Amino acid sequence: MKAIKKVIVWAMLACMPLLANASGGDLHLDKAPLNLQDQASLQRGAKLFTSRCLACHSASVMRYNRLNDIGMSDEHIRTELELPEDVKVGSTMQAAMDANSAKMAYGVAPPDLSVIARSRSADWLYTYMRSFYADESRPSGWNNKVFPNVGMPFVLADLQGTQEAEKHEGHVGNLMLKDAGSMSAVEYDHTIADLTNYLVFMSEPAILIRHQIGWIVLGFLSVLLALMYALKKEIWKDIH
Ligand code: HEC
Repeated sequence: MKAIKKVIVWAMLACMPLLANASGGDLHLDKAPLNLQDQASLQRGAKLFTSRCLACHSASVMRYNRLNDIGMSDEHIRTELELPEDVKVGSTMQAAMDANSAKMAYGVAPPDLSVIARSRSADWLYTYMRSFYADESRPSGWNNKVFPNVGMPFVLADLQGTQEAEKHEGHVGNLMLKDAGSMSAVEYDHTIADLTNYLVFMSEPAILIRHQIGWIVLGFLSVLLALMYALKKEIWKDIH
């Protein structure tokens, strides 16, 4: 009886994160098309992140040369990401703007994004970066459907263009593209998929190694199974 109780308690604990998510409101999140094996995508994401996000956000536990793990040599990192002379490839990724000035400018200090994919989720990030819309009532001129009244201005408007929200009795409805950016909707989605892919890698760089170890273990177990089977046949062959 005690054992059954234990099992029930464990099952309930295991389901708790699911329940917590389910009660997170009726917000719809799009599924981020992640592919952590796609080095070209991770590299495009890294480039976008360093050129567009590091202006305000740091990733202070991420060193540039961790990008070696996604197929970028030190030389490649330096030239491709246009590192300033005084930044070493072994340095951590620091915001160009200091937190205080950023707070003065945007009302909130831009948070460190090192592990953002773990505190939010990949789907949340993928949806967030595609949910900015023009809103004149906000100081920055921008609002976000996933993060209402966000302090961040939409820094990728030149790529996506300007979306506007349908308003139903004060409720934010569908977003529609009003002015086009330099990318088509499909291209922009791909670009944000790359960025999300990169943010997930950055939150857990060991994830790549873990996947590889997983495959090696599976390979080893398959070989072992084949050997065992051959051995069993060998042992039993004279008995039948
Ligand atoms: C001009 C400065 C600026 C730039 C550039 C910028 N952000 Fe932000 N970002 C902010 C500020 C300020 C906030 C805090 C918003 C708030 O809490 O209301 C923020 C918040 C965020 C959040 C929400 C964090 C959380 O969970 O509270 C994410 C995710 C984010 N930014 C991602 C990005 C990404 C990805 C880029 C690059 C494409 C980027 N930001 C570029 C200023 C900036």
